[in-house]
Amino acid sequence: MHSRLVRVLGSEQLRPIRKHLIAMIVYAVLQGVAFALLVPVLSALLDGDTGRAGAWLGLLAAVTAAAGAAYYVQALLGFTTAVSTTGLLYHRLGERLGRLGVGWFSRARLGPLTRLATGGVGEVTQLFAHLLAPLVISVVSPLTVLVVMVFLDWRLAAAMAATGPLLFLAYRWSASAISRTDAVVDASMARANDRIFEFARAQPVIRAFGRGDTRNDLLDQELERQHDIGLARLRRASLARGAFGATVQLVVTALLALATALAIGGSVGAAELIALAVLLVRFSEPVGALSDAGGALRAVWNRLDQLDEIFRTPPLPEPDEPLRPADATVELSDVRFRYPDSPGTGPVLDGVGALLPANTMTALVGPSGSGKTTVTRLIARFWDVDGGSVRIGGADVRDMDATTLAAQVAMVFQDVYLFEGTIEDNVRVGRPDATPEELADAARLARVDEIVERLPDGWNTAVGEGGTALSGGERQRISLARALLKRAPVLILDEATSALDPVNEMAISDTLRALAGRCTLLVIAHRLPTVVAADRILVLDGGKVAESGTHEDLLAEDGIYRHFWEERSRVQGWRLRSGAGA
Ligand SMILES: Nc1ncnc2c1ncn2[C@@H]1O[C@H](COP(=O)(O)OP(=O)(O)OP(=O)(O)O)[C@@H](O)[C@H]1O
Ligand SMILES: [Mg+2]
Repeated sequence: MHSRLVRVLGSEQLRPIRKHLIAMIVYAVLQGVAFALLVPVLSALLDGDTGRAGAWLGLLAAVTAAAGAAYYVQALLGFTTAVSTTGLLYHRLGERLGRLGVGWFSRARLGPLTRLATGGVGEVTQLFAHLLAPLVISVVSPLTVLVVMVFLDWRLAAAMAATGPLLFLAYRWSASAISRTDAVVDASMARANDRIFEFARAQPVIRAFGRGDTRNDLLDQELERQHDIGLARLRRASLARGAFGATVQLVVTALLALATALAIGGSVGAAELIALAVLLVRFSEPVGALSDAGGALRAVWNRLDQLDEIFRTPPLPEPDEPLRPADATVELSDVRFRYPDSPGTGPVLDGVGALLPANTMTALVGPSGSGKTTVTRLIARFWDVDGGSVRIGGADVRDMDATTLAAQVAMVFQDVYLFEGTIEDNVRVGRPDATPEELADAARLARVDEIVERLPDGWNTAVGEGGTALSGGERQRISLARALLKRAPVLILDEATSALDPVNEMAISDTLRALAGRCTLLVIAHRLPTVVAADRILVLDGGKVAESGTHEDLLAEDGIYRHFWEERSRVQGWRLRSGAGA
């Protein structure tokens, strides 16, 4: 548990936690002593010895005041620890996620990760703010009472200690019964959450295809199941809690009976008996609270476990002696790769070799699913290759540190993603310290200037979550401006113009031509003008580079590219130029 906390929170955070723990223990011991002091106070009062009673009462008042002060200190420490833990945990989680390979973020992981980040961190924080104190107090206070009891009446102390194992076993049983139902409820809750999320996200598809009923049914079923599970849990948990409470009461009654028997036998005075009765009732209260605090604690433990799993996942290995690329050449040699999530299928890339000379433009074409996007992901090292190598400027991408590699490559993704914020924020992600001139330059090249002039808020237009407030073509142009502003030596565009109208597309094609010679350009495109403008064209098929050469070279071969070209020309209503078939 200790090592888990260190991994999740870092060793530095242990110090405030330890301080908080010590303050709680001090408070609990003082509280236990205050309970125990009731015995001499009451027995003096019943003896009619007001002087002695006054003295004990004075001590009781002093201990109670000290306990009050200790309570204040521990509450304050608990609160500050909780606040600092929240910040720290988000920070560490973010930093850790940033170092994991992009491949880790599969769809199957995003749901649990979202739940962990939104709810889980808060739950762990609760541990310090609310949970730990009652737990520590309900164990330490009775123990203190027990120690004091040894001095008051060793027989009762021995009887109390003897009930310890019984209480412990009853606690274990009730806690495990509660936690078993908790796990089932957790899982059902997660499923219902996912269904609601999916239901909301799929609304356009559901409406367009008139499948509202069936999808609603799925959600209803899950909610109904959740309701049943919730009821069953309530029944079971109440039973377990009740059983534990009854055990505690039973123990208290037995101890009281023993004390009464001793009193009748004359070895315990009436005053002591009353005081002991008060003490036992006080003793039972915090112990009874254990089962609630324990259940909540286990939920936190589970969250810590899930967080720990992230912290235990090794990040992409970083080189001991990082290399720097000599230039902007990109070379793939005999690259083999398959996605770890789909081990059943064959490799996506099976011996891909390609050389992209520095400051040239290469177009990558091939059927859908042939692995074009995958090639770009391997160049940016979102995944590591299974075989062969990817080199930039002679250095294997695995031998560069993450920052160096990130500085080499700028990308426009096939699925454009914009961050919540303004258009300017989104373009500046490429290079936060860019001057206004550089920003304007990138905007002009990517035709974002036209968007900014047209929208009333200009650069300050909010793009909405994921960029939903803009059209597909606008999003594409903004993400292109972002990549251009970065001025990385290697620029990769994955279908970056697919959503553009012909006017904007022509303008971007001009931009690309202007860029050639300034950076190494890898362009994935279905559109002809972009492909034709490339220095070299690679045709990906069957996990390999099936054809490569200039547009003219490839048209001369009667292969995939020529078919691709003829299909495209037909679709776009363009004529093959004379000599194209030569
Ligand atoms: N994250 C992933 N996990 C598992 N398999 C994937 C993943 N991404 C892609 N694939 C699979 O790898 C293969 C190649 O996909 P890729 O996206 O590279 O194709 P593409 O050539 O870019 O296709 P398109 O022209 O449609 O964009 C496909 O069969 C696809 O199903
Ligand atoms: Mg693709």
